[in-house]
This record gives sequence, C-alpha cells and structure tokens, in this order.
Amino acid sequence: MDSENWKHSLLYLIFLLAILHLTQNYFSHKLFLDNETVRIKKNPDLPLRFRSDGTFKILQVADMHYDSGTIVTRCKDVLASEFEFCSDLNTTQFLKHIIRAENPDFVAFTGDNIFGSSSPDAAESLFRAFGPAMESGLPWAAVLGNHDQESTMSREELMSLISLMDYSVSQINPLDDDLTNSSKGGMMTKIDGFGNYNLRVYGAPGSMVANSTVLNLFFLDSGDRAVYQGIRTYGWIRESQLNWLRRVSQKFQGQKQDPLHPTDAISTTKPPALAFFHIPIPEIPQLFYNEIIGQFQEAVACSRVNSGVFQTFVSMGDVKAVFIGHDHTNDFCGNLDGIWFCYGGGFGYHGYGKAEWPRRARIILAEQNGKKSWMNVQRIMTWKRLDDEKMSKIDEQILWQSR
Ligand SMILES: *[C@@H]1O[C@H](CO)[C@@H](O)[C@H](O)[C@H]1NC(C)=O
Ligand SMILES: *[C@@H]1O[C@H](CO)[C@@H](O)[C@H](O)[C@H]1NC(C)=O
Ligand SMILES: *[C@@H]1O[C@H](CO)[C@@H](O)[C@H](O)[C@H]1NC(C)=O
Ligand SMILES: *[C@@H]1O[C@H](CO)[C@@H](O)[C@H](O)[C@H]1NC(C)=O
Repeated sequence: MDSENWKHSLLYLIFLLAILHLTQNYFSHKLFLDNETVRIKKNPDLPLRFRSDGTFKILQVADMHYDSGTIVTRCKDVLASEFEFCSDLNTTQFLKHIIRAENPDFVAFTGDNIFGSSSPDAAESLFRAFGPAMESGLPWAAVLGNHDQESTMSREELMSLISLMDYSVSQINPLDDDLTNSSKGGMMTKIDGFGNYNLRVYGAPGSMVANSTVLNLFFLDSGDRAVYQGIRTYGWIRESQLNWLRRVSQKFQGQKQDPLHPTDAISTTKPPALAFFHIPIPEIPQLFYNEIIGQFQEAVACSRVNSGVFQTFVSMGDVKAVFIGHDHTNDFCGNLDGIWFCYGGGFGYHGYGKAEWPRRARIILAEQNGKKSWMNVQRIMTWKRLDDEKMSKIDEQILWQSR
C-alpha cells in the first residue's frame, strides 16, 4: 500500500470511529433519559443473614481465569477430544449449573477471576465472568488474585468496578472508622492493597440472634507479585492489613450479642469467622506431611515472605477456616493448630488444570444451633462439587463444631 492510500484509509477509519462515537453518545443520552433503562446498581437484601432453617451456604469459586468470554477462548488441560468445543463459555455454564444445583446464599470469588494477560478489556471480562452471579441475584463478593490486573485496569480500578456490580457486596477497603488506631490518638492509618473488608452474617430471621453477627467473613488482598531482597516472589498480606484484621476481630470480643434479651444461651465470645484470599501463606507447604482431605498435586506457590498471617489468625482465635486459590490442582483442606486451610480447586477452563481431573468448586455450610429458636453457629461443614455429568459431591467434612 502506498502512503497516499494509507492516509486515506486512516482518515476513513477516523471518520467511521467518529460516527460510531456520536451515535453511541446519542443513544446513551436517550437511554439516560428513559426511566426504565437508567442503570443503577441492584443491591441484595442486607444484612447477610442465615435462612429461617438456620443455615448459611457459601459457594467458593477459585481461579475462573476468565478471558473475553467468547467461544474463541481456548481451554487449557482438557482432553484432546474436548478441546474443540471448550471455551470460557464452559466456565460460565459451570457457574450457572453449580448455582442452580447448590442454591447457595452467597458466592465468594477468591481471585484470578480474570486472566488479565490474555484479556483485551478487563471491564468486559469482569462483566462476563461475574455475569451468572449478577443474574442470580445472590449477594456475592470477590477478592483479587495475581492475574486480575494484567489487562487494562489497575487493582484499585478493578475493586471499585467489582464493588459497583449488581448484587456485589465487595468493598474496595474498610471504612476509615475501622482503620482508626486509638493508641495513635485516633489517627488514620492507610491499609495496603485493595479488597480488604469484613462482612457480617446475622442470625436467622425472627430468632434471638436475628440482630446479631453469628458469622464473620474476612476478605483480604494477598497482592500479586513483588521483589523481596532482590528475588521475585508472590505478594503477601501486609502488617497494615493484619492490624486492621486484629482490630475488627477485637470489636466482637465480649460483645453482648443481644443486649435487649440477655440469656446464658447466647455466648459473649467472638462469633466464628472465615477468611478468604488468593495466595497461600508460607505455612501451607507443611500440610504435605499432615493428614489432608482432598488432593495435594502441585508445589504451593506461596510468597517467600512470612508476614505472620498464621500467627495473627491463631492469636485472634475466631478464624476457624481459611479459603484460598492460586494452585489450581490442589483442592485439599488441612489443619494447622486448629485452623483449617482449604483450597477451592481450579474452577475456570482457561486456567491451567489437569485433563481428566474435572474443574471444581467448594461449598461451605454453616449451621446455627437449636430448633425453631436459632442460636449461635454450631457447626461448619465443607465439600466440593465437580463439573462432571453428575456434578459429583466429594470430600464432605466438618471444619468446626462449637463445644
Ligand atoms: C421518571 O419517573 C418518575 C416517576 O415515575 C417521574 O416523576 C419522572 O418525571 C420520570 N423522569 C423522566 C426523566 O422521565
Ligand atoms: C463445554 O461445553 C460444551 C457445550 O455445552 C460441551 O459440549 C462440552 O462437553 C464442554 N466441555 C467440557 C470440557 O466440559
Ligand atoms: C431485631 O430488630 C427488629 C427491627 O428493629 C425487631 O423488630 C426485632 O424484635 C429484633 N429482634 C431481636 C431478637 O431483638
Ligand atoms: C496501633 O498502633 C501502635 C503503634 O504503631 C501499634 O503498636 C499497635 O499494634 C496498633 N494497634 C492495633 C490494634 O493495630
């Protein structure tokens, strides 16, 4: 092509883009005026609470690794015979099926929701990846992994968009109130990362604990990559995040759950808590030598930096189980000093996995004590579901029981 032609083509292209832009503006202007189609975020009923049967069920989705959400996205590590008809749409189909099969009360996405490095438009990938969650009308929340920000949006932008999506209860970071350290004279401290927040789950409607937190959920940003002492490694949870965690947990200590109806049956200890983040902590490799439920099939890709997350959980006392992702072919739960650490197991078809080892998801079920008149949480269970023909349920186990 000679340069004159090239210039003409370029002008023509600019002309087309201008027309497109004008018509889009015109239509969006119209859309904005039309009452029916004004976009406002749809919110779930809050607070989160147990059902009237005294249960609260969480679906953990780890590592969707979503791309553009079209049939051209290739699946990794499936059988040669499955390869041709496999794409991101299989990930979407799995999410829809599992929501229908398990009917959870809440969905927790533990990072690498999108595979940024292969996604041309992060916002579009996010909308498509979380589409089934938004359509379900269930409250859902997400944290980031190490790949989410590799496309067109920063971690802050990703978390703010995620927090604005329909039925999302994700937050960018805790409110200033929770960050205030009174021993520093009420000075505000900044927290590292994006996507550190606490969600409280109230007791069943109409019960004695209907206005009390009976289960706490902590979400943490475990970062992406970092260089430590000249060596490239994965991110880690920082001291500012641990300080915030300790402070929030401390607030529940000795709190009368229901000041209006004091009763011996309602405990004044902290409610049990569950934590969700992406990158495993450096203690996880020790589980190789412990009894585990599920499979340990790949080296734990944790950070070289041990920032004391495990010690913090132990000293807090309320965290009973921790749910992580990142290593797609590990799906086990193992116990360290009374705290369970559970992998979700890889969910998405565009992320690496293992052929003939179905993609999977984890379910967590918390049950309140009592019959008709529900009390504090008595038991927390977990199991996994496979994306096979029967959506097989495997590895059911008890994570925690109140004494
Ligand atoms: C939107 O609907 C409300 C109530 O139905 C009405 O009062 C208002 O004028 C409408 N606004 C527009 C821009 O149509
Ligand atoms: C992907 O979805 C298609 C269409 O539903 C289905 O035929 C195919 O078996 C699925 N592949 C895998 C690996 O699940
Ligand atoms: C919880 O709050 C609601 C609304 O304020 C009130 O009607 C109900 O009696 C409260 N329940 C308990 C157990 O305190
Ligand atoms: C508050 O700040 C002080 C001084 O930096 C620190 O030693 C202390 O651990 C902090 N307290 C909490 C609860 O984070």
